This record gives sequence, C-alpha cells and structure tokens, in this order.
Amino acid sequence: MLDFKEFKNRREKLSSFLGDGVAILMNSKEAIRNRDCHYPFRSDSYFHYLSAFPEPDSIMVVIGGKKPKSVIFCQPKDEIKEIWNGYIHGPSKACEDFLFDEGYALSEFHNLLPKIIKGKKIFLLSSTEKKSGIPFLTSKWFRENDKQRKDLSEIIDGMRVIKNNYEVNIMRKSANIAANAHIHAMKYTKADKYEYEIEGEILNQFFKNNARNPAYSSIVASGINSCTLHYIENNSKLKDGDLLLIDAGCELESYASDITRTYPVNGKFSSAQKEIYQLVLLAQKAAIEKVKEDNFFDDPHKEALKIIVNGLIDLDLLKGSKDEIYEKELYKKFFMHRTSHWLGLDVHDVGKYMTNTKKKTAVRLSKGNVLTIEPGCYIRPSNEVPKEFWGIGVRIEDDVLVTSNGYDVLSKNAPKEIGELEAIIGTLND
Ligand code: GLY
Ligand code: MN
Ligand code: MN
Repeated sequence: MLDFKEFKNRREKLSSFLGDGVAILMNSKEAIRNRDCHYPFRSDSYFHYLSAFPEPDSIMVVIGGKKPKSVIFCQPKDEIKEIWNGYIHGPSKACEDFLFDEGYALSEFHNLLPKIIKGKKIFLLSSTEKKSGIPFLTSKWFRENDKQRKDLSEIIDGMRVIKNNYEVNIMRKSANIAANAHIHAMKYTKADKYEYEIEGEILNQFFKNNARNPAYSSIVASGINSCTLHYIENNSKLKDGDLLLIDAGCELESYASDITRTYPVNGKFSSAQKEIYQLVLLAQKAAIEKVKEDNFFDDPHKEALKIIVNGLIDLDLLKGSKDEIYEKELYKKFFMHRTSHWLGLDVHDVGKYMTNTKKKTAVRLSKGNVLTIEPGCYIRPSNEVPKEFWGIGVRIEDDVLVTSNGYDVLSKNAPKEIGELEAIIGTLND
C-alpha cells in the first residue's frame, strides 16, 4: 500500500534544498504502441518519487523558501472521458489523496506560472525541458528569463540514490517475487520447451504477486543466445546440453528488482560449463564482499575482474602477460560489461558514479545504496577457444543493499550454488 505521507515527506525534503527556488516536474505522456493503442501508462520515475500521482498530463510544482508548499496541476474531472478510460482524480481529490497543498486544472498552469516563479530560481530536469508541448517552455517569457534556470536532477538523484526503510521494504519484496519466479523457472525448465514459455511462466509469477510489469524486458537466453547481452527475442528451443541464462526482474510499486541466474537445461553442468560457472560465482561472491560503506563504487568490479582474469588465464582462454591483458583490455572479449549499477525506481537507477572533483574517482558507497553485483563471462565460438567452451554465457546477478555493517543481499532467495541448482531444475511435472 502506498503511504502518501512518505511522498509528501520527500517533497518537503526537496523544498528544504531549493532555497528560494521552485522545482517544476512533468509526468510522462501516454506512449502510443501503434495507431490508437497505448502502452499501459507508467509515471516518470522522478514524478512518481515525489508524488505517486498516477496520471499523465500532470505537472507538479514544489516551492522552497519561507513558505514551502507543493502544487499539482492535473486533468479536470470529465464524466465522458472517465466512462471510456477510467477514473480521473481532478485537482481537489488529487490534493486530498496525494497531500498536495494546492491543486489546479492543467489549463491553469500557464496563467499561474508567472506568479509562482516570479523572481525565483527555477529547478528543472533536462527531461522536462525536452518534453514537447509544454506551454511555458515555448513561451517567450521563459526564454527571456533563462538565467533563472537550475538543474534539478542533482538534488533529486542525491535523494533517490539513498533508499530509506520504506523503499528498502518494497525493494526486498520486489526481489523476493523475482527470486521466486526464478525458482519457478528453474523447476519448469526442460529440453524442447521454448524460451518464451519460460518467459511466460516468469511473467505469470510476477502477475500472481501483483507485480504487473517486468522492470525490463526479460532475457531468456539458451545456448549461444546467452552470449548476446541484451537478447530479448526469447524464441529458441531449449536444447539438452545447453545453458540457460535468465535475467528477469519485476516492478513492485514502481521499484525494480534485477536478478540473473544461469543453469543447464538438462539439470547437470558439463565440466566446461562448471569451470566457467564456478569462476563467475567465485567472482560474484568476492565482489559482494566488497559492498561496504565507504568502499568505492567500483571496488566490487575490480575484485570480480581480478578473479575472472586469473581464472581465464588458468583455463588458457586468456593468453599473454597480465599487464598486457589489463592494458589492452583483452578480458573484454569474455567480460565486456561493468559489474554494478544503481537500482531503484529505474532498473539502471539515477545517482552519480564518479565524484565531481578534478581528479575523478568513483563515489563511495553509503548506507541505503542499492546496487547490482553481476559479473559475467561469455564465450562465443572462435578458433582461439576450445570447442567445449563455445556458447557458454554465464551471468550471476544479485541486488545488494549497503547496510551499517556491510551488505544485505535482497535477492538471496534465488539459488545459485551448483548443488542447489542441479537439485531443482526440471522438477515440476506439467
Ligand atoms: N537487466 C539489466 C541489467 O542487468 O543491467
Ligand atoms: Mn543489472
Ligand atoms: Mn539484469
């Protein structure tokens, strides 16, 4: 259940950062899929973060200074529209339910804006500036007063990158739903099924738990498909002897989970698959151990990379000196992505990765950060690689919270030990 006081608290916190300024945020527009069919509406994440107000065609104004307040501009009630498309809050119910101080019809925005922003700094997101059809952005007035414009993202990103208990509780549930969906997929996996059948089962598990959207298009990649990082066709038949890589997470109250598991279709790792899987698992566990307050954001990546490079040298898949492998980034043939990203309302959530100082370094981890730990190793067929490794793509991904005494793996319910996986794959009779 949404707690609207929580969202009001966030607006009040934002007000306190604005000084004598005003923040203006627009919600997303409805997106057309084809002709007159729309995608289900999903609020802009910044807009949701500060309001939970779920309607398109709405603008929020958060005012700082001595008399802080928040104002919503939204669609007016419209009986005919509501018969066709469902409930519209209208300004007064929007105020009442979402705890805004004032509410007006969207059509009032242009009239009221000059008074609201007079002499004040105006904080905007670049995405708001880019959105077309906003009256004030095209108005002569605004162009002439450009100096008042300030960037809003840095302030809100700084808030969003630290999750409070309210958010962590939701993210834990989101991760649990996704972990259980992965367990179900493991049990359901058998040779000769299609990747999309597994995807359907995962989505069904999300839906059954009221997580009505995946956080991103699910990747269900068997065999060589596992070596395509953003594979979403999900239309191949599972083959006995192949690995299956599933990267799937759900959205709960707009908070994403992001979990990857990799396992053999037939329930038994081949020796080459086991070599690579054990290496990635070792790297992933070691990287998780580096999730600790005050450590650098890229410490987990450095640890994972070190282990994977050493392992690939031992397996004779990487050749040459270590210096050369690092200098020329030869490891990128097999491990070409980063180990972590922030996670939250967006799967690749907002938040800085580097400091603003001249000598750019990675930011330090803080309590309340949630990041993924997802090293991988992907081996495409090539003359330089023994055949038994061809088409092995392994990624293991967990969602990790920085706590006051280390970390908490929110997605820990998804099994990843070889013994656990082999015991559960294909056990569902259907
Ligand atoms: N599923 C997207 C990612 O792992 O970054
Ligand atoms: Mn991820
Ligand atoms: Mn992922």
